[in-house]
Formats: sequence, structure tokens, C-alpha cells
Amino acid sequence: MNTDSLHGNAAPEVREADPGRGCRRLGGRTALLTAAARGIGFASAVRLAAEGAQVWITDRDEAALAQAAQAAAAAGLRLHTQCMDSSNAADVASSIAAVLAQAGRVDVLVNNAGGSLHTPFRLLDETDAHWQQVMDLNVMGAVWASRAVLPAMAAQGFGRIVNFGSKAGRFGSLIAGPNYAAAKGAIAALTRQMAQEFGPQGISVNCICPGVVMTERTRGLWAERRSAEERERVLKEIPLRRHAEVEDVAAAVAWLVSDDAAFITGITLDLNGGQGMG
Ligand SMILES: NC(=O)c1ccc[n+]([C@@H]2O[C@H](COP(=O)([O-])OP(=O)(O)OC[C@H]3O[C@@H](n4cnc5c(N)ncnc54)[C@H](O)[C@@H]3O)[C@@H](O)[C@H]2O)c1
Repeated sequence: MNTDSLHGNAAPEVREADPGRGCRRLGGRTALLTAAARGIGFASAVRLAAEGAQVWITDRDEAALAQAAQAAAAAGLRLHTQCMDSSNAADVASSIAAVLAQAGRVDVLVNNAGGSLHTPFRLLDETDAHWQQVMDLNVMGAVWASRAVLPAMAAQGFGRIVNFGSKAGRFGSLIAGPNYAAAKGAIAALTRQMAQEFGPQGISVNCICPGVVMTERTRGLWAERRSAEERERVLKEIPLRRHAEVEDVAAAVAWLVSDDAAFITGITLDLNGGQGMG
């Protein structure tokens, strides 16, 4: 299945005059974000760069990587790029080894790669192949990338890993199917286990669980899988009365990898405007 069309052709945008919002917490840190040429990953990369980090982004879409670096440069920020398919174990290992060789170190890993890949919403419509694709991208992609950076993080006695869960993994999804919800539940469990194993080496591992974040892709799914009435009703059930923007998520990523969150590990951070409480 070709899911690239879901993203459209629009170039990513830096929408804030000061994406760091005055914070400069990440000087001297090197960060690597997976699948970050668009959407949440791109906004997070911009935010980390604005806060002073040296930032590397990976994505399987080479043209989108070039556009992302260009959009960041227009805002005065540098993003280094590396083409990488997060669903392919060998590619993840060799691409991250290449980044480590060039950057010299990786202090921060943001396992952003994920998504439901437009697989069916209903369990009985999903095949084993749908499960495999979604598990590979969301769960194994994070395992492979973590495996590639953890020895270097452990050797330097410092690391920050942020995994991407979802509201889907905690309370179910209104637009993605059971394969995606299960994958995101697995990410939360993986986060807690990694936090216990690697805490003694100075490495924190946390997980962000956004509700619907309005990217180009989710805007399409949201309109396709929910009626106008349903969409309105869901908005009314969110105490803050809106969906997340990518910059909301980027701010949480920056905080979790900064020294301000130095004593936080193993958490699943709900980022959903209060949705799911009622
Ligand atoms: N957008 C949401 O509403 C939402 C909500 C909760 C959680 N999340 C999670 O946040 C993360 C980012 O989501 P998003 O909506 O910004 O992503 P997205 O679907 O917009 O995709 C971002 C990038 O991923 C790249 N990509 C897709 N498959 C890839 C692969 N196999 N290898 C490398 N790159 C690949 C695409 O080229 C694209 O540039 C994901 O883990 C997602 O599950 C998103």
C-alpha cells in the first residue's frame, strides 16, 4: 500500500517566529529524530534546533528531507538529514551508524516513526500483513533505533529517549484500528521496561501519548472516518476544545529531553487537552 499520498505535496512549514519560545536548554546536545521530514517530527526537530541542539532527522522520503532542511534553513535553523526506512532493521542500523560516525555522539533519540499506515479500522478487516507493517514501523522501528544508539549513550553515561505512544494505546482510537492501538500500548510498556534497564546508566526513557494532532495526514483520516456531527461531538468532549497542533507536541518533546526533566523517566505523558477523562 502506498501511504505517501496521504501526506500531499505541501512542504513543511516553520510557523512560529521563535520556535524555541525563548528557551535555550539544549546547547551542546546532539539529537536524532526518526521519520521527521514532516508532521510532529519536523516540528520537534525545529524546536530542538531552536533550543540549541545539533539536530539530525531521518525519513524514508529523500525529497521531503531536502524540503524540511530548506524550510528550517529559511527560519535560520540547521537540520542535518539522513535517509532511513524505519521499517527496515538493516537500514536503521546502518543509517544510525552513519549519523553516529558523522555527529560523533547522539544524546537524544526521538522515536517518532509511527502511524497506522491507512490500514483498516476494524479488526475483522485487518490481515496479518496489516499487523506486521504497523508493528514493524511503530514498535520494531523504535527497538531498532534504540538498539543502535544505546551502547554509545551508555558509554557516555547520558541519554534521553522519547518514544511515541498515542491516546489510541491508552483509551482506543476514533480513526485508527486495533493494530495501531496495540502497537502504541506496546510502546508504553517498552518505555517503562527500558527506563528501568537503562536508568542506572544515566538514560531516561519517556513516552508521549498525543490525541489527534492536526497534520496533513490526520486531517484527511479524521474527515474520512468520522462524520461532521461526530467530529463536532468529539471536540465538545475535549475540555480544552481543540485538537493538538504539532507545536504543542514539540514543546513536550523539548521539555522531556531537557535538564528540566532530568528526574523524570518511564512516564506516559498524555497530551490530549484532557480528552479521555470523561
Ligand atoms: N498525528 C497524530 O494525530 C498522532 C496522534 C498520536 C500519535 N501520533 C504519533 O506521532 C508520530 C508522528 O506522527 P505524524 O502524524 O507526525 O507522522 P506522519 O504520518 O505525518 O509522518 C511523518 C513522516 O514519516 C515518514 N515515514 C513514514 N513511514 C516511514 C518509514 N517506514 N521510514 C521512515 N519514514 C517514514 C513520512 O515520510 C513522513 O515524512 C507517530 O509515531 C504517530 O503514531 C500521531
